[in-house]
Amino acid sequence: MAKSSSNKTQTNKDKTTYKIAVFSGKGGVGKSTVSAILSVAAGNSVLIDCDPQASLSHWGDLRDSDPEVISLPPTRLKSKLPKLDHDYVIVDTPGALVSGTIDALKLMDLIIVVTPIDTFELAALNDTLNTAEVARKPIALIINRLHPQANAENALTMFSELGVPVCPVVIRERAIHRHLLTEGKTCFDKKSESKASQELTEVWAWIQEQLAAN
Ligand SMILES: Nc1ncnc2c1ncn2[C@@H]1O[C@H](COP(=O)(O)OP(=O)(O)OP(=O)(O)O)[C@@H](O)[C@H]1O
Ligand SMILES: [Mg+2]
Repeated sequence: MAKSSSNKTQTNKDKTTYKIAVFSGKGGVGKSTVSAILSVAAGNSVLIDCDPQASLSHWGDLRDSDPEVISLPPTRLKSKLPKLDHDYVIVDTPGALVSGTIDALKLMDLIIVVTPIDTFELAALNDTLNTAEVARKPIALIINRLHPQANAENALTMFSELGVPVCPVVIRERAIHRHLLTEGKTCFDKKSESKASQELTEVWAWIQEQLAAN
């Protein structure tokens, strides 16, 4: 997919690398799922798996195509990043706030906070945003696992007061995401376009707009 213009870290004279972390203070919200999908959407990307559970490293082992997946604790990100000259570095953060996570977020061009939408998640989301804000980097919110029949407008309205950009395209709960990830794939690896891949294409386009805006 095409890369947005302008901005950010130059690893060599002609190369710009955008660094994006997928973050939440809460476990199980879809960080790894979204990281994997975005890394494929991004094209020339490397996926950094900072989670000691290494679920994305296993996902990468099952793949026969890009992206390269590198398993790395957050504390080692700073020395690794300058050696990467891909267009995008996507960083999947651990389920719990482990040592070095905030410092890792400080190295990013964009912090994507992933959240499902229910009452308990909303309480946790405030804590997550407070944590992410410590890094002083642009934050963008993506709603994940919205029920297929739920009204997206209502969901978006709930988040509109938070003071961070919210992706107008929500990621729906779709069994295909679960199934494909266990096979080392994503919705972009299917030959035919699906609702899931359309949705994620729009989400990726919005992320590129956030990068360009910042
Ligand atoms: N949009 C979606 N539709 C259907 N299933 C989803 C979706 N997003 C995530 N899931 C499923 O939810 C579960 C948790 O997702 P995932 O492992 O990506 O979360 P996580 O935030 O990375 O968790 P952890 O904090 O443990 O690292 C997985 O079984 C995954 O397949
Ligand atoms: Mg995970």
